[in-house]
Amino acid sequence: MIVCSCNVLSDGQVRACLNPGPGCPRTPAQVYACLGCSPKCGRCARTIRGILDRALSEAHAACSTTCGTACTLKALTEEAA
Ligand code: FES
Repeated sequence: MIVCSCNVLSDGQVRACLNPGPGCPRTPAQVYACLGCSPKCGRCARTIRGILDRALSEAHAACSTTCGTACTLKALTEEAA
């Protein structure tokens, strides 16, 4: 599904750039940069943020040893539990 019509980005492309670890995009702006584009109208930022939060909270178990206690996703997974 296309989530950003300005840059023609799909939800799969957004998820594909999210890899556990310190270099993983944590904001919509970092996702745009990872995919080689930049925001235009900004309507998709909330959707991209949602994909980002869901995907990273699911992947958090895999990255918890790398991220350590400073990981901002720890609160997300604790809220969901
Ligand atoms: S829909 Fe993504 S920048 Fe416009």
